Amino acid sequence: MSKKLINQNDIVKTELNNSLDIEYIFSNKPINRFKTKPVLENKSSLLSKVKQKIMDIENCELKKNANKLVFSDGDCQSKIMIVGEGPGQKEDELGKPFVGDAGGLLNKMLEAINIKRENVYITNVVNYRPPNNRKPEPSEINRYSEFLKEHISIIDPKILILMGSTAMEALFGTKIKISKERGVWKDVIINNKTYLVMVTFHPAYLLRQADQKKYSWADLKEIKKKIDELKLKI
Ligand code: URA
Repeated sequence: MSKKLINQNDIVKTELNNSLDIEYIFSNKPINRFKTKPVLENKSSLLSKVKQKIMDIENCELKKNANKLVFSDGDCQSKIMIVGEGPGQKEDELGKPFVGDAGGLLNKMLEAINIKRENVYITNVVNYRPPNNRKPEPSEINRYSEFLKEHISIIDPKILILMGSTAMEALFGTKIKISKERGVWKDVIINNKTYLVMVTFHPAYLLRQADQKKYSWADLKEIKKKIDELKLKI
């Protein structure tokens, strides 16, 4: 082989090597393969649509007996969303969630961790008062959970607080017990998005069972810790 030819071969090799010399960056982070929906509509128009769907509901015992639709209260831009069970008498009169005795306690619970009620977003699993304040039936919880999931997707909270077994059942089913599940962080996936959830006792239950308030206080402290950890502005 002539010297000239060797040199040419070397040049080709070097060029080939250079062209293959790509720096790959390896990362252990999972790739998000879910397409995110472009934000085409603002929150309030999306919220009005879910509200309309609830207003249009047919053959519903709850709606038939209720005075008002109780949709939500608070700041729809909040990073914290609270879900209760369903409206009571006062809520049914005023069309606002958590305005009776349980609401009074909820306000105090939030104040205890330096949160003002108006800075969170509050809703319920069912949006019409169950007759005689009965617990919503599993079929009702199931039916309304579709609206609730849509509602959660729109609000897109960083922390979702489920108060009481009805709220827990709406997202996790009936096979679990609140006494075992409260106080620990959980994940729930709604429309391909994972939400951080804390299940805790319902304020109405705490009004009946004052001895359980110590657990509720422990849960509130956990919530406060997470807010600080995530540096959420509430
Ligand atoms: N209990 C609830 O679960 N929601 C309310 O709005 C009021 C009382």
